[in-house]
Amino acid sequence: MTLSISLIVNGEQKDIALEDPRATLLDVLRDRVGLTGTKKGCDRGQCGACTVLVDGRRINSCLALAASQDGAEVTTIEGLATGDDLHPLQAAFIEADGFQCGYCTPGQIMSALGLIREGLADNDPERIREGMSGNICRCAAYQGITEAVIKGHK
Ligand code: FES
Repeated sequence: MTLSISLIVNGEQKDIALEDPRATLLDVLRDRVGLTGTKKGCDRGQCGACTVLVDGRRINSCLALAASQDGAEVTTIEGLATGDDLHPLQAAFIEADGFQCGYCTPGQIMSALGLIREGLADNDPERIREGMSGNICRCAAYQGITEAVIKGHK
């Protein structure tokens, strides 16, 4: 049975026919919408690489069924920059060296944006580390990531 859903992805409506009702939001974003900035790490809710905002709140898109997101507004890493102008958080990650290999970076940035919008980020590194604890960086660039969230928050 094919299910039809509509998502607003980075401000654009996407009408998607789901042949597999068990498709995750992560797979739909990458394979159907063509936005591969959102990364698949563990595919089981443990690493945060797949973090996106849904209706303004951060989620692990590998754990969300796309079918249950019908009508939702989804923001991915591709939705942050305006033309050639990076979002302040993107610029802050570069400035603070908040990455090494970069694989987790889209998820880190989307999680940081959610944290800031939830009002849970301030200049306290401990609070930021706690709020970002669902986003794993295998290169352990945590000091730069925390600095980037502080810089991007200003
Ligand atoms: Fe979703 Fe790891 S890929 S949490």
